Amino acid sequence: MASITIRNLDDEVKELLRRLAAENDRSMEEQARVMIRAAVDSQTGPIGRLDQIERTLQELAGSHSGAIPAAAPAGKSLPRGSLANKRILLVIGGGIAAYKALDLIRRLRERGAAVRVVMTTAAQEFVTPLSIGALSADHVFTELFDRNDEHDVGHIRLSREAELLVVAPATADLMAKLANGHANDLASTVLLATDKPVLMAPAMNPRMWSHAATRRNRAALAKDGISFVGPTKGEMAESNEAGEGRMAEPLEIAAAIEAMLDTRAKPLAGRRIIVTSGPTHEPIDPVRYIANRSSGKQGHAIAAALARLGADVRLVSGPVGVADPSGVKTIHVERAQEMRDAVEQLLPADAAVFVAAVADWRTEASAGEKIKKVAGEGPPVLRMVENPDILAGIGHHKQRPTLVVGFAAETHDLLRNAEAKLARKGADFIVANDVSQESGIGPSGVMGGDRNRVRIVSKTGVEEWPEMSKDEVAARLAALIAERLKTIVV
Ligand SMILES: Cc1cc2nc3c(=O)[nH]c(=O)nc-3n(C[C@H](O)[C@H](O)[C@H](O)COP(=O)(O)O)c2cc1C
Repeated sequence: MASITIRNLDDEVKELLRRLAAENDRSMEEQARVMIRAAVDSQTGPIGRLDQIERTLQELAGSHSGAIPAAAPAGKSLPRGSLANKRILLVIGGGIAAYKALDLIRRLRERGAAVRVVMTTAAQEFVTPLSIGALSADHVFTELFDRNDEHDVGHIRLSREAELLVVAPATADLMAKLANGHANDLASTVLLATDKPVLMAPAMNPRMWSHAATRRNRAALAKDGISFVGPTKGEMAESNEAGEGRMAEPLEIAAAIEAMLDTRAKPLAGRRIIVTSGPTHEPIDPVRYIANRSSGKQGHAIAAALARLGADVRLVSGPVGVADPSGVKTIHVERAQEMRDAVEQLLPADAAVFVAAVADWRTEASAGEKIKKVAGEGPPVLRMVENPDILAGIGHHKQRPTLVVGFAAETHDLLRNAEAKLARKGADFIVANDVSQESGIGPSGVMGGDRNRVRIVSKTGVEEWPEMSKDEVAARLAALIAERLKTIVV
């Protein structure tokens, strides 16, 4: 397949593509392909197709809230992306995930940021300064004692010129150095010398991550005001191992950066909001459990969207594969009873949003040892008992938050079930989503997928929202919560 050389496009078109790509979480090439495909599909003649491509670009630009003028006057630059004019210093540590830093640089530049890079000596074993320099379009800094850079104390300048320092991958070694105040190479010196916020994206083998020393260092860094994104659970690139320690994906890191540098109004500042997310795991024995298909994507996105509006968000998450959202305090639980206890301990709160798919039932008692298959005895009988109803419990609690929002994932009779739930559970509104095969949302459906179509059911009626990404649902819901909290008088 022929490749698209973005470099050869006009600056104006490039700028537009950069914004659209960032907004749609695509690379610029991918964005260009989608738009060209759309234009070709319109079945016009060869000349008409070109017109159509231009029109598509202009229409798409006009349809964005950033209100890029359809055709900017010649010589005037178009408004930039979500990180326009932001200066980011990226410190790349020596881990396998250093290759993801290449993509991260592209994602940040697509959003309009200027990215300067410091690489540790170990990082250069994994990716070359040449590739990093080509992507960042800047000199790559590697040496503390560099005659060219240090005539004006370059390490201090580097650490202060940026608005944010990002360490990705943050190795166990870099975390240990900063936690203990070491400054024996350019990366650690810059991190110690800065007066700007620092975001770390740790990446390491699960055993290194769970080691008591790393846990101590992480806690010390968090106490010192360092922010974290990830790590997540998943396959490790280098060792056929799986577990917690995988670096957050570049898009997740970019989102965390956007949140940290976001200077927009914070209508939820000073509000404390509890969010639950993900499934619960109800044990049968030490190795087996009852679960459901909830991925945590929607709940985590809502927690992140509320935090972006300034709320002090406490997320109670069941076992999920998505990263803890940045700027949110996350409490990890497994069982429904643990989730209920964690939520109750977080009261009082201004609002609570119950997105988690909590198991309705658990086994009456989980076996202390693995249940063995015994020839001739047939399968074991599992006696189930009801789990606590967390939404109803909080909806009728003496410390009930001002606003209580529940989610209803239904496969049939969506509206009837949601309306019944609203009254029974003491919620202010229910976000109802159709999780049936017929929902029409992608092959994977709503649960686990990236899109959602919801209805907001309240005493005053039903509001239907069109299908959108889970991030968009989250942003709209966060705005609705901010609006409701503003108007509710207690
Ligand atoms: C193949 C290989 C992969 C490695 N991957 C990681 C990693 O993912 N995370 C980590 O913390 N250390 C990893 N290490 C160890 C670091 O490279 C080592 O601790 C190094 O001193 C880190 O230096 P830096 O923190 O200055 O970049 C790896 C080492 C090797 C040889």
